[in-house]
Amino acid sequence: MKLEKMDDFFAARLDGYDEHMMTEIEGAKEFYPYTAALLPTEHDANVLDLGCGTGLELEYYFARNGEAHVVGVDMSADMLAALERKFSGRRIRPICGSYFDVPLGESCFDAAVSVESLHHFTAEQKLRLYKKLKAALKDNGYFVLTDYFAESEEAERFYFSESERLKSEQGLVPTSFYHYDTPLTAEHETEVLKKAGFSNVRIMRNWKATYTIFARR
Ligand SMILES: C[S@@+](CC[C@H](N)C(=O)[O-])C[C@H]1O[C@@H](n2cnc3c(N)ncnc32)[C@H](O)[C@@H]1O
Repeated sequence: MKLEKMDDFFAARLDGYDEHMMTEIEGAKEFYPYTAALLPTEHDANVLDLGCGTGLELEYYFARNGEAHVVGVDMSADMLAALERKFSGRRIRPICGSYFDVPLGESCFDAAVSVESLHHFTAEQKLRLYKKLKAALKDNGYFVLTDYFAESEEAERFYFSESERLKSEQGLVPTSFYHYDTPLTAEHETEVLKKAGFSNVRIMRNWKATYTIFARR
């Protein structure tokens, strides 16, 4: 399996991406609206979307709260261009870059969401991101994470060792992001969120391997 750079991977699959997600990912027709329904309904709510892509979750969110302000961070310029075409007229600010690098600000968001994006990273990378995210949320703000999780600790270890093996075999530089799924278990993910200082961290629901986790600032 030849690993592709993260932005190249998604750019190459942009055509048909929404349909693929909705039909091939088990539970997608339920978990997108479920996730959107957990986001704030107040007009003028400020919401951050980490790895927004073409904004599947935002379609459901804007249908419930058309006045919300959304900042969408994604490292794929092509995915963001599709997002902008889809949501012209909505209050959405796309930021092209890695959420590990982009400054998220201090106490600016009522809520943050991330769907099917963070399962490519290690617990250490996430811990740094979650600390930054916590600081970016307002006092009573919260984070809704809907993502793909490993079915066991053994599976988690396997994904990470495979990722390392492939990168080393292919001589890839560790400073770039490559597309390879390395999900943590949902339990390990909740531990990272707690370690970052989030409270009331709980698994809300799952659809096979996709779970929704809630965390309060
Ligand atoms: C499977 S798509 C999910 C998109 C959207 N949230 C959805 O559920 O349809 C994953 C997205 O995460 C983005 N992504 C991956 N790593 C990222 C990073 N470090 N910073 C910003 N975006 C990232 C990819 O570019 C891609 O658009």
